[in-house]
Amino acid sequence: MPFSSEPAQSAFRQPIPTLRRDGDAIAILDQTLLPFRSEIRRLTRVTEVAAAIRGMQVRGAPLIGATAAFGVAIALATDGTGEAVLDDALSLLGATRPTAVNLHWALARMDGALRPLGPGARRDAAWREAHAIAAEDAATCKEIGAHGLNLLTDIAARRNGRVRVMTHCNAGWLATCGAGTALAPVYAAHQRGIAVEVLVSETRPRNQGLLTAWELRQAGVPHTLIADNAAGLLLARRDVDAVITGADRIAANGDTANKVGTLLKALAARAAGVPFYIAAPHSTLDFDCADGSHIPIEDRDTDELRVVRGLDRDGRIVELRQAPGDTATANPAFDVTPAGLITAIITERGVVSPGALGSLYPEQT
Ligand code: MRU
Repeated sequence: MPFSSEPAQSAFRQPIPTLRRDGDAIAILDQTLLPFRSEIRRLTRVTEVAAAIRGMQVRGAPLIGATAAFGVAIALATDGTGEAVLDDALSLLGATRPTAVNLHWALARMDGALRPLGPGARRDAAWREAHAIAAEDAATCKEIGAHGLNLLTDIAARRNGRVRVMTHCNAGWLATCGAGTALAPVYAAHQRGIAVEVLVSETRPRNQGLLTAWELRQAGVPHTLIADNAAGLLLARRDVDAVITGADRIAANGDTANKVGTLLKALAARAAGVPFYIAAPHSTLDFDCADGSHIPIEDRDTDELRVVRGLDRDGRIVELRQAPGDTATANPAFDVTPAGLITAIITERGVVSPGALGSLYPEQT
C-alpha cells in the first residue's frame, strides 16, 4: 500500500543543463571533468554518444536513458532513417552500460515510437520522442521531490526542524534531466526552509560523491563529505535521520541495484534502526526481473581503482597511479540491496513499500 499519494509543490531549475539538443547534435555537461571544471561537449555522431555514456561523461540512470534516446535521433539525422540505421543505433547504445535499466527502457520506447513509422517520418519523430523522454524525466524528478519532501517534513517536525540525510553516489540534478531523484526531496526541503544537511559518501572508486558535494555547494545546501568507510559509524551513532539513495534498476520484488556501497549503508541503517529509502522514477522499474539475482552487474575497468584523479598545484587535472598496474583488482560498479532492507521507495506516484510497487504501476507489470 502507498504510504502517501498527494505531492506537495516544489520547483527546480538545473543550473547547467545536463543535456540539450543543439541542431542535429546534443550538448552535454562533461561529468568526467567535474568537480574541477564545467565543460560542455557537443556530440554529433551516435558513436560519440555511445562513447560518452560508456566513458561516464554522462552518467546516472535517468540521464543515461535520455542521452541514449537523443543518440538514436542523432543516428537517424546523420546516417539515414532506414531499419538498419535504427537497429545499429539501438544495439550500439544498448551495449554501453548493462545495469541501469533506464537505458534499455528509453531505447525500447524509441524503437516502439519509430519502427512503425515510414522512414520519411522517423527523423522528426525521433527528436520529438527524445525530447518527451527528457521532459518527462524532469517532471518525475519534481514529483519525487514533492513526495520525499513529505517524509523529510515529518522528520523535521520530530527533530526541531532539522534533518540529516545520508546519501551515496550522485542522484542529484547531474544524474537526470531535472532535480534528481535522491536529492530532489533535499532540494525541496531546503527550498521550504527546512534545515536539511546531507552526509555525502565519497563513493569510491569513481567518487560520484564529489559531484554530489559540488551540486549541494552550488545550491547552498549544508553538507559534509565523508569517507565511504565512515558511514557505518555515523549510522550506528544515529548521526543520521534517514538514508536516501537513487537506483539503477528495481526488480519486481523491490530488490534494488544501485552504486556499489549502497548495500553496506542499507545493512548499517537496518542495524541502527535508521530508515533507508530509495528514490526512483518508473523508468528504473524492471518488472521483467523477478528479483535482484537477475540484475546484471557492470564490471568496470580495474584501472578505476588503481588511478586517482585530482588537481595539481597549478590547477591542472592530473591522474596519479596509486597501485601498480598488475595489482589484482575487481571493480563491480553496482550492488543489490534486498527489498527487506528498504523502508520504502519514493516514486513520482508516491511513497510505497518495495513489495507493493506493482500496485502503484499496474500498467508496467
Ligand atoms: O555509475 P553511475 O555514476 O552512472 O551510477 C549512478 C548511480 O548509481 C545512481 O545512484 C543512480 O543511477 C541513480 S541516478 C538518479
